[in-house]
Amino acid sequence: MVQGQPVDTRRVAAALGDRSVVLVGMMGAGKTSVGKRLAAKLGLPFVDADAEIEAGAQLSIPEIFERFGEAYFREGERKVIARLLASRPQVLAAGGGAFMNKTTRDNIARHGVSIWLKPDVEVLLARVRKKSNRPLLKTPDPEQTLRRLLAERSPIYALADITIESKDGPHEAVVDMALRRLAEMLRATAESESAPRRIVKAPLGARAYSIIIGPGLIDEAGDEIAKVAPGAKCAVVTDAHVGPLYLDRLVASLGEAGLAVSSIVCPPGEATKSYAEFARVSDALIEARIERRDIVIALGGGVIGDLAGFCAASLRRGVRLVQVPTTLLAQVDSSVGGKTGINSTRGKNLVGAFHQPSLVLADTDTLDTLSEREFRAGYAEVIKYGLIGDKAFFEFLEANWREVFAGGPARAEAIAASCAAKVRAVVADETEQGERALLNLGHTFGHALESLTRYDTKRIVHGEAVAIGLALAFRFSRKLGLCPGQDAMRVEAHLGAVGLPTRIQDVPRFEASPQDFLDAMRQDKKVQQGRITFILARGIGESFVALGVEEASVLAFLDQELEFAPN
Ligand SMILES: NC(=O)c1ccc[n+]([C@@H]2O[C@H](COP(=O)([O-])OP(=O)(O)OC[C@H]3O[C@@H](n4cnc5c(N)ncnc54)[C@H](O)[C@@H]3O)[C@@H](O)[C@H]2O)c1
Repeated sequence: MVQGQPVDTRRVAAALGDRSVVLVGMMGAGKTSVGKRLAAKLGLPFVDADAEIEAGAQLSIPEIFERFGEAYFREGERKVIARLLASRPQVLAAGGGAFMNKTTRDNIARHGVSIWLKPDVEVLLARVRKKSNRPLLKTPDPEQTLRRLLAERSPIYALADITIESKDGPHEAVVDMALRRLAEMLRATAESESAPRRIVKAPLGARAYSIIIGPGLIDEAGDEIAKVAPGAKCAVVTDAHVGPLYLDRLVASLGEAGLAVSSIVCPPGEATKSYAEFARVSDALIEARIERRDIVIALGGGVIGDLAGFCAASLRRGVRLVQVPTTLLAQVDSSVGGKTGINSTRGKNLVGAFHQPSLVLADTDTLDTLSEREFRAGYAEVIKYGLIGDKAFFEFLEANWREVFAGGPARAEAIAASCAAKVRAVVADETEQGERALLNLGHTFGHALESLTRYDTKRIVHGEAVAIGLALAFRFSRKLGLCPGQDAMRVEAHLGAVGLPTRIQDVPRFEASPQDFLDAMRQDKKVQQGRITFILARGIGESFVALGVEEASVLAFLDQELEFAPN
């Protein structure tokens, strides 16, 4: 949109339809002043959720806090916002803490467009200092409390559809910016809804396949699979989290396409990649009479993809596989490339096979039910592709990550770009003899962190370990004089902005010496003849395989990293 050209507010209001505009952000961010002006421009009513709560309770908010406590207030706030959102389109100013509640956030996503008003911290402090009736700031050091609240809440506010950063400019300027961003977002959403889905081709000769990415694909899976395998019998393997959410829809779609279908449900979690589950699922597939030309469908995250894929690879020496990945990690990484396998008691993924799928169907809507932590962890792998060899993609993510998280068109775009990057690496080196190793950027450090925390996912999940690993790989490259410090800082800043960890100290209760850490890195299966292969970087988008890195320099680097005390 051309800067300075007035926004057609009637078109914006029409594009909003029955959705509301919900302003979120800290106390003092200007939600009421901006909200009133925005509502007037859009011809919508303005409602202040806090005022509604006060009117309903016949008490002021400080009084509600004082008499009944914060938990009581939050519950009331959730109900009032749900009622308001269901009533009619409006501009709604939500209380500072309202967006922290997941149910409220989901409700806002269903019924509206959220805008985070993010003023400068100093401006916020100055505004809040003037008003002393904020119950959460009745502490001995209100400034300190405000800074703490801001640090805690910012990663959640950042999930809003739109962020408006404002210095202490006039409210009119903020309103104008909000209208422009709203118009842009609504136009992009309308374009994406009518846009064809994205298709990435994996050109692997006789084993070539398509990766189809877009919303609502589960309901069309039957037609897509019937094109690849007309008349085939299908067996869906899923887990007990994903099954209740998507199995019925997938089965119905396969049935409508005339495909016979059975299903097998596994327990969720990494422990499912075991010899016992491999045997149980394989036997169930044999009982279901799945034969060479039939199809095993993996419906779930990487665990189900790896297990079902390995069963498909070994059953009758190989039956066809369709991946229907439902986690971000699985959509951008594990469902593409053909690696399948299970864990041994001696280590992860030690037993497996290369077995390419015949089709990958990545329904981007399924990511809406994924926990925030799992989504964010998968996003570390998305960033990785930019860092390996595509600086422009990294810059796209820096600019659009909020929309990737919120589920706008940038989400499908980021997934498609990630799959294309993975396909390029796989096609260059299908069985990981050389170039494909670049995909391990951040993973050598990451695997050591996972192993030293005994794969305790309460402390760290794979994607979080990769995030720290990426930051470490860039800092190590900087220390070796390979990469500019600016690039290492930029990587760290982006990881931090989305709420991913970047330091070893971010792992709760982590204790290891540099030597322990080095030993753990040696356990990684990418080690050959005792030598660790590092993936290092000359800059963002310029990663390379570094052989023969001196052990002493690794130890010195780890020593410095483990010493680092966050302030
Ligand atoms: N084959 C490969 O190339 C490759 C690459 C990377 C990782 N992996 C493997 O992938 C596995 C990790 O995969 P993951 O991170 O997807 O974990 P996961 O499969 O365990 O899924 C994470 C959690 O999310 C749940 N879940 C999945 N989809 C959901 C949805 N749409 N809504 C709600 N809940 C949902 C699952 O039940 C599980 O509890 C590891 O075993 C790893 O070794 C394989």
